[in-house]
Amino acid sequence: MLETRDLVKHYRVGLETVRAVESVSLSIDAGQFVALYGPSGSGKSTLLDLVAGFQAPDSGQVIIDGRDIATFSEREHAEYLRNVVGIIGDLSELMPAASARENAALKLLRGDPRHATRLVEPLLEELGLGARMDQPVNKLSMGERQRVMIARALATQPRLVLADEPTGNLDTRRSREILDQLRVLCRSRDMAVLLATHDPQAVGFADCAYELRDGRLHEYSPEDVFVRPGEAPSQAG
Ligand SMILES: Nc1ncnc2c1ncn2[C@@H]1O[C@H](COP(=O)(O)OP(=O)(O)O)[C@@H](O)[C@H]1O
Ligand SMILES: [Mg+2]
Repeated sequence: MLETRDLVKHYRVGLETVRAVESVSLSIDAGQFVALYGPSGSGKSTLLDLVAGFQAPDSGQVIIDGRDIATFSEREHAEYLRNVVGIIGDLSELMPAASARENAALKLLRGDPRHATRLVEPLLEELGLGARMDQPVNKLSMGERQRVMIARALATQPRLVLADEPTGNLDTRRSREILDQLRVLCRSRDMAVLLATHDPQAVGFADCAYELRDGRLHEYSPEDVFVRPGEAPSQAG
């Protein structure tokens, strides 16, 4: 359903050129969970931004269901962001004083607000927030906030979810719980997930993984990532 073709995005910073995304081609099928592993600065967020159409690439294409998103009208792009894509972004995007329910319903609020908040309740229940729906976000734990963010992204039943470091603020056990829930939802809703992460354990939840290094996409191979104690990093490759 999603394909990127030779995507390139460079930033000019002073006299330097930062090659944030360098010739990235990948594809994701409906219902597929794909991890994009890479350290901070490797280009993950830029790549997700290009897929969402928040920035235009210098060259290359983002193809959704056979269409280049660069050809979308403003209305089609808004529609794409509302109905096709769900974005699990930074927790700072949540409204701290609003309830979990209101935060989760944000993308549905074009209609009747009472109806919107009712619509997200089953999803919040499914995510284990049934008893916490009326709590303001600033009274919730990080794990609970992350679930609210997931509920917000999934409320419009998107077919493609872009998750940018969704476990960045969580300990190991809570990260696993969140990733497990994301995987279950990916399966039950047949939605594609593109997960950006610098956490090697998160990669294990995906059907398929790539590694980004300095904007370039590589096949993910754990041997490149883990340096065993007492062993020098491999010079191979
Ligand atoms: N708006 C910007 N202007 C200049 N450089 C940027 C901008 N956004 C990102 N970068 C640079 O591009 C590279 C990739 O960043 P980013 O996509 O945020 O990586 P990641 O999400 O993997 O940490 C980094 O070197 C970062 O400093
Ligand atoms: Mg990032």
